[in-house]
Amino acid sequence: MKTLNRRDFIKGVAALSTAAVCSVASGNAFADEEKPAETAVQPDAVEPAASAEPGQTPKLPWGKYQELDPEYVRKLGHLGYYLQECAGGAFWGIMTALKEKVGYPYTTIPLPSMDDFMANLDNKKHGMQVPMSYGAGGVAGFGTLCGAPNGAACAITYILPMEEAEKLIQRLLRYYEVEEFPTKESNDMAVHHEFYPKKMKSDKALLRSASDSVLCHVSVGKWCEKSGYASGSKERAERCGRITGDIAAMAVKMLNAHMKGELDAVFPMKLSHDTVGCMTCHDKGEKFETGQFTRGKMDCGDCHDEKMEPHRGPNTLKTAYGTDVTTFAGAAVIGTIAGIGAHAVNKRITKGKNDDEE
Ligand code: HEC
Ligand code: HEC
Repeated sequence: MKTLNRRDFIKGVAALSTAAVCSVASGNAFADEEKPAETAVQPDAVEPAASAEPGQTPKLPWGKYQELDPEYVRKLGHLGYYLQECAGGAFWGIMTALKEKVGYPYTTIPLPSMDDFMANLDNKKHGMQVPMSYGAGGVAGFGTLCGAPNGAACAITYILPMEEAEKLIQRLLRYYEVEEFPTKESNDMAVHHEFYPKKMKSDKALLRSASDSVLCHVSVGKWCEKSGYASGSKERAERCGRITGDIAAMAVKMLNAHMKGELDAVFPMKLSHDTVGCMTCHDKGEKFETGQFTRGKMDCGDCHDEKMEPHRGPNTLKTAYGTDVTTFAGAAVIGTIAGIGAHAVNKRITKGKNDDEE
């Protein structure tokens, strides 16, 4: 007889509460779900630039976005990686394209020029530092968030107000989890020598793989495992260079689309199946007892798999007020009664409700 493991059980619970819920969904949690999905800032709609004091850079966001060519930005991001790795490279690539196209205030960011970069390809450490350079290797080599989406996210916050930026950034992170990197586009560019550096770290078409994780540690680890290249190899570095270009290009595609109110056409927001299920209970919220003692939208299943399966041992948690936390099975019932359904959670995320501001 096949026994149902707890993971399958969780999935079952998620499906069950979906069915039970729709009529009961508490007004509170999903109250302002109905606000319009897209409130794109049209180019020049945000114009704080004009209000800057002489000699000062204006406050963010700067707006003034103009449609950029994603393929050009892919090449800039790749070049940026050769000089300042993933985070600095993605930031530099997007900002350089904006600086060229829009001019002020993007000209006020301290960035080496394209000529500086090309002239310093062999001497990349000297005077080439950019904002976001610290993000390399998942923040100064710590292996947390991959620098490419980190740098691109920073660029986006120069352009858009945070509540809009967040929609693009979440999509960019999700794209990072599911795309097989490096993309076909950047592999092709490399093989045909269309990138800027004459001396490539590798001009081969590199193995493409999805990491199901935004972490540098996981992304590099899985790729190295599959490709057989070491983390210090030229091929691994080249892979990350292409990813930097790929992410910068996708960020620009999203920005272009967002300005036309067509963000979903580029990349609809859809969390992983696991995450939607887990978030029925483990969302950011005030009900400690039902699992609201954690937060996040990463792909839960990438880590909490068979090897790190949750809900195995007895519960040892207590709330700050001394109440025992109900067991998982109890929570399943509470979850169902309270009507916190997987599809409701997913719907809320999809609509980009911003409940994560703290
Ligand atoms: C990158 C790997 C990773 C991902 C992705 C991940 N977790 Fe975890 N999670 C961990 C680790 C590591 C711990 C700590 C385990 C320990 O120390 O016992 C943890 C702990 C937890 C805990 C216990 C309480 C706490 O916060 O420490 C919960 C609940 C949890 N995770 C839920 C989730 C949910 C829900 C998701 C998806 C939204 C998720 N996790 C995604 C690695 C991950
Ligand atoms: C029906 C509600 C519910 C769902 C769905 C749920 N959890 Fe939990 N989870 C709880 C509750 C309540 C606790 C604390 C009590 C306990 O440990 O039984 C908990 C505890 C945990 C813990 C810490 C203690 C342990 O047993 O490891 C982790 C890790 C965890 N959950 C991860 C997950 C992940 C990952 C998912 C999705 C695959 C998930 N949970 C889905 C309610 C839920």
